[in-house]
Amino acid sequence: MAKIGLFYGSTTGNTVRGADLIQKAFGPGVVDLIDVGTASSQDLKKYDALILGTSTWHWGGLQDEWALFEDYLTSDILGGKKIAFFGLGDQKRYPDHFVDGMGLLYEKVKPLGVKVVGLWSREGYDFDVSTALMGDHLVGLALDEDNESHKTEDRVNRWVQQLKKELGIK
Ligand SMILES: Cc1cc2nc3c(=O)[nH]c(=O)nc-3n(C[C@H](O)[C@H](O)[C@H](O)COP(=O)(O)O)c2cc1C
Repeated sequence: MAKIGLFYGSTTGNTVRGADLIQKAFGPGVVDLIDVGTASSQDLKKYDALILGTSTWHWGGLQDEWALFEDYLTSDILGGKKIAFFGLGDQKRYPDHFVDGMGLLYEKVKPLGVKVVGLWSREGYDFDVSTALMGDHLVGLALDEDNESHKTEDRVNRWVQQLKKELGIK
């Protein structure tokens, strides 16, 4: 089994692309990809480190499969784990709700006795408001496939380098 479980929810495939790139950037055998549309709470228990990836829909809402799966995010299941977040959104069309889904997941998970890793600078993005913004940092990696897909691979690679250090993975 891989060291990290990457759980994602994706409606049109953009978050899947992000998940694939993250898996690739870690190298072979490190990250398992799990679709929350078919996952169970037992799957979450298998890993000491998790990456949770969601897009944002409905003007500031969680992706649909995540909205069904989020009830499994409890302190019993997640307590003590290291957790990173990534979020897909559209900063041009939704500048007041950019990657809010990632912020919602963070707010749900943060109080559960976890260690959050993978905080990311807001530099280089162009949006006004986000629930994923904490001061000048985002709670995880933001990706915008609608407007900046050319930046995705570089953002992923830099974030994964940072995560490897934070998680002690060579
Ligand atoms: C109806 C609709 C509502 C959306 N709402 C938001 C939003 O509130 N914030 C945001 O950042 N992106 C929003 N988006 C953009 C999606 O999050 C973005 O296209 C994302 O890449 C989709 O990823 P997925 O295919 O993995 O679900 C919305 C898109 C649509 C079509």
